[in-house]
Amino acid sequence: MIILSVETSCDETALSILKASGGLKKPVFSIQSNHVASQIKLHEQYGGVFPMMAKREHARVIAPLFVKSLQESGLLKPQPKTYTLDIKTKKKIEKILDREPELLEIFLKEIPHIKKPKIDLIAVTQGPGLEPALWVGLNFAKALAAFWDIPLAPINHMEGHIFSTFPGDGNTFKIEPYKFPVLALLISGGHTELVLMKDMMKYKKIGQTRDDAVGEAFDKVARMLDLPYPGGPKISRLAHEARTESLHNDLHIKLPRPMIGSPDYDFSFSGLKTAVLYTLKKIPTVTDEIKKILAREFEDSVTDVLVSKTFKAIKKYEIKTLVVGGGVASNTHIKQSFEEKAKEFPNLTLHFPRPDLSTDNSLMIGIVGYLRSFSKKPHSKKYLTLKARGNLEL
Ligand code: KG4
Ligand code: ZN
Repeated sequence: MIILSVETSCDETALSILKASGGLKKPVFSIQSNHVASQIKLHEQYGGVFPMMAKREHARVIAPLFVKSLQESGLLKPQPKTYTLDIKTKKKIEKILDREPELLEIFLKEIPHIKKPKIDLIAVTQGPGLEPALWVGLNFAKALAAFWDIPLAPINHMEGHIFSTFPGDGNTFKIEPYKFPVLALLISGGHTELVLMKDMMKYKKIGQTRDDAVGEAFDKVARMLDLPYPGGPKISRLAHEARTESLHNDLHIKLPRPMIGSPDYDFSFSGLKTAVLYTLKKIPTVTDEIKKILAREFEDSVTDVLVSKTFKAIKKYEIKTLVVGGGVASNTHIKQSFEEKAKEFPNLTLHFPRPDLSTDNSLMIGIVGYLRSFSKKPHSKKYLTLKARGNLEL
């Protein structure tokens, strides 16, 4: 099965073409083409992502990225010269892309000259994420599905993060069958949650953040330290330097471990962010060294809480497989701390995504599209009514 997958939930326009086989038991994937067009340069100057700006940028790059992907996958064939676009199809496309006039223009200029490619399924992120950004990917996918009559599967972005943790760094990969029960810790810019999966693709959320997400806390603390967006990787680098240089915490900076002992599986990171702010206010001159020490203390605090709550759930639910997904899963200190703790649990298998798949990408959306095609029929007729859902739950 050839799957086109599209992801535009935040500030990356991601598109990939995957060849999938093996069914639910032994899924095997071969990457035909894979792109992540990042908007970081655009948003960096404003210190965060503006949804309308993200939307415009997705609309500008998505169609050319699609044509490039077809070409790389050997699926780009020109339409016979005699072909003309009929009025009815044109009207349908115009209706779907009504809110993306720039994308409509590119679509009508490019796509009708391409012969229907051999794509069996289009998987697209429906939510959660920034709605204006989500709409671009969803409407583009709908327009392609309508134009070529290809089934469309709406995918949950967080489910994508759960299935982004396959091994290997090559172009062909397989997902090892999970041993159940599985626990997923999802840590990204918008989410921090613990999800129990007792059986394949059956989810129960057992805990979540009550305020800020972990990635959000990293980004906000980075801003306080005058570090550019996105702050996660930068904080992580400073913390790493503090550790390798064994910097001494002369000022006795100590941050709280919020909710570490609470009887539930919930999190809270907004107080931690405020604690950083108050700490900074008390220091007359914040040197680079102090920034590093603070970054290390912040990363330690986050790690302590994540490890403690996750392993509490692992014990309680007798978890056999732990999957950690989302942008913050690319943090090496967090990863190493989980690996260290997991040594106490010999029956536990731990999965982290490879670095390029921890942050947003479309391969994970294609994977879920394939796995879902065995349980839920993809939409072939009803896709026109699909809506982007910024708060979509698992
Ligand atoms: O999953 P993701 O790419 O997008 C969302 O779905 O939110 O996650 C992005 C988040 C950002 O907050 C970013 O600062 C954080 O992941 N992040 C990190 C690291 N790399 C990315 N946080 C901590 N350490 C990192 N190395
Ligand atoms: Zn994400």
